Amino acid sequence: SSSVLLQAEDAVLAGGVVEANHAGYTGSGFVNFDNVAGSAVQFTVTAPSGPTNLLFRYANGTAVDRPCALTVNGAPVTTLSFPGTGNWDTWTTRAATVTLAAGSNTVRLAATTANGGPNLDSLAVGTGGGLAVVLD
Ligand code: GCU
Repeated sequence: SSSVLLQAEDAVLAGGVVEANHAGYTGSGFVNFDNVAGSAVQFTVTAPSGPTNLLFRYANGTAVDRPCALTVNGAPVTTLSFPGTGNWDTWTTRAATVTLAAGSNTVRLAATTANGGPNLDSLAVGTGGGLAVVLD
């Protein structure tokens, strides 16, 4: 198995800004989704075909969930919950398992409420069973 870490600040943003004003992020910052429905972060993931584990690292300093629609290559997969983490400096992960095609794939999170998404730090991608141990 193998895993790679993709930084949200390197992804394609459709309504969001890169910031670094809350501690604990990895890389050079995180994405602050615009506080509107539809604001989105899109990663390009190169992988072999098959089941792939995704771990989104995020913070949500509010008490209100910031759900996001997860799509892979434009196809809806599910809506992921991003509940509050206590404050904007406390980061945790939200997991999903998706099926990718061989080669280049898009993995997109789009906010479904007017609050927008959480602050998003990174996406860890595990193929061939990678990252499975942290999914439960
Ligand atoms: C605060 C916080 C931001 C966060 C925003 C939000 O402004 O500092 O990092 O993105 O709230 O509610 O989305």
